[in-house]
Amino acid sequence: MPDFMRRTRVISVTGGKGGVGKSSIAANLAVLFGRKSQVLILDADVGMADLNLLLGVAPDKSMLDVLDGERAERVLVPAHGIHLLPACNASTRLANMGENERQSLFSAVDVLADRFDTLVVDCAAGIHANTIGFAAAAADIIVVVTPDPTSLADAYACVKVLNKEHHVKRLYLLPNGVRSQAEATGVVQRVTMLAARFLDVSLYPLPPVPFDPMVRMAGTAGIPWILSAPDSPASRALMQVARRLDSDSLGDDRAGAIRLFWKKALQVKTAKPGFEMRGLRLVPSDPKNGSDGGEEQ
Ligand SMILES: Nc1ncnc2c1ncn2[C@@H]1O[C@H](COP(=O)(O)OP(=O)(O)OP(=O)(O)O)[C@@H](O)[C@H]1O
Ligand SMILES: [Mg+2]
Repeated sequence: MPDFMRRTRVISVTGGKGGVGKSSIAANLAVLFGRKSQVLILDADVGMADLNLLLGVAPDKSMLDVLDGERAERVLVPAHGIHLLPACNASTRLANMGENERQSLFSAVDVLADRFDTLVVDCAAGIHANTIGFAAAAADIIVVVTPDPTSLADAYACVKVLNKEHHVKRLYLLPNGVRSQAEATGVVQRVTMLAARFLDVSLYPLPPVPFDPMVRMAGTAGIPWILSAPDSPASRALMQVARRLDSDSLGDDRAGAIRLFWKKALQVKTAKPGFEMRGLRLVPSDPKNGSDGGEEQ
């Protein structure tokens, strides 16, 4: 069944601050969802390619190769029942793409929409436009926050940008690395109070993931902890997170969610490959002229 008819899902994992557990949560959540659906995880980070290490793989291609004409399927890396699409290091180029280049990348990755039911996006730290744009393009956005005061401040900054600049009205908040339920409640309350006072956004807390030394150990072993230590506190907590996400979605319409994600993330304006917007007119794009000539957003 094509993507526009199936119930599909896109979940981005973001959080403002670096090192709060975005990649750990994204990778393990993806593997959990991978037990009952076809899952693609997108590494939208710019830096260290954490996901490769967490999933124990060493991809030799990335979305940069797709931009250079490689087929998207050939860039995918299978691991632990899911597939990884490495995009790291591509984001500067992605941010500087013209309309034609965006359109052809969209067409290239759009073929993946029919193959996967769930797309998990591991976002880079920070609130720069090209980072947060990927987070904002997902129907379901998880903001990871730890009890560290800088994480609280950065999570709020992230929620603020998503709300004010991307008009996101509903977000999940996931307390990670907490040492008690009270600490998790405190984290949620602080971010929620600030958001209620200054923003027009609703925050939906997910079950907290506790601090668990096993998470760091599994990270260095390259095996997702949900597989290597399924009975550990962090794994049990993440199963509750997955259960909550299973029964609940913040996105209005889950049909065609993956296609919609790519359109938003790549800022593709037109519905049909082969066409582009010139001012207010939809005109055939001319792949032969080789320029990125379309207007920037
Ligand atoms: N619940 C947890 N308990 C213990 N350690 C954790 C937990 N969550 C994450 N960590 C550890 O914190 C470190 C940072 O995690 P991770 O790389 O997932 O963060 P990140 O937000 O993706 O970082 P970056 O912004 O650099 O991409 C890792 O060493 C990881 O093992
Ligand atoms: Mg990361």
